[in-house]
Amino acid sequence: MRTVIIMVVLVLAGFALLAIGNAAEQASLRQQADIARTASQDFSKTLKQQLISAINAGGPEGAIGVCQHIAPETSALYATDDMQIGRTALKLRNPANTPDEWERSVLTGFKAAMAKGVSPKELERFEFIAKKGEGRTFRYMKAIPVGKPCLACHGSTISPSVREILAQQYPEDRAVDFEPGDLRGAFTITREMP
Ligand code: HEC
Repeated sequence: MRTVIIMVVLVLAGFALLAIGNAAEQASLRQQADIARTASQDFSKTLKQQLISAINAGGPEGAIGVCQHIAPETSALYATDDMQIGRTALKLRNPANTPDEWERSVLTGFKAAMAKGVSPKELERFEFIAKKGEGRTFRYMKAIPVGKPCLACHGSTISPSVREILAQQYPEDRAVDFEPGDLRGAFTITREMP
């Protein structure tokens, strides 16, 4: 009888430890997601402000450099030793922003959710991914919806002068013909965890 009691206690203790471990894992995931969410919001805000002031100052032709140079510079600003932040999309302008396998599947999931009526403003995805050796990687993505200011360079009525610059610099440009509310792409954050 005593053996049975000891075994039951051990099994219960095992379940309790698993539950504690699981709760700690969830808390750590939520904490990483909060950091990533703030970084992507700051990144997004800075980019939009720079873009709008550049458009006001020099029209969309003059603002092309914002998306081209300021976006990578700003992402470097928000990046840390162990955290990278960037932008990716299914329909690309710059092939350097090509999504990897995980990013592509998340973007496809975002599109599917939007087809069911979910607002892109609410779409984010995050998880820990185990590395082959030790440690793991935290990954986060946040959907970027198309807004009106984006149409000058990503819409269907792009001015001939902007079209010409884009054609010169991005011969494989597929990031056009978007409409407000479409999914333009996503911010993507990768953080190496110990
Ligand atoms: C003045 C022109 C211009 C405007 C306006 C503009 N973009 Fe862009 N966008 C570009 C250029 C140029 C690139 C390529 C950047 C590069 O070389 O990395 C780009 C790239 C991107 C990318 C990276 C993925 C890719 O296709 O390479 C995203 C995401 C993006 N833009 C979103 C937006 C959003 C959202 C808006 C509106 C808030 C916007 N853009 C407004 C010119 C513009």
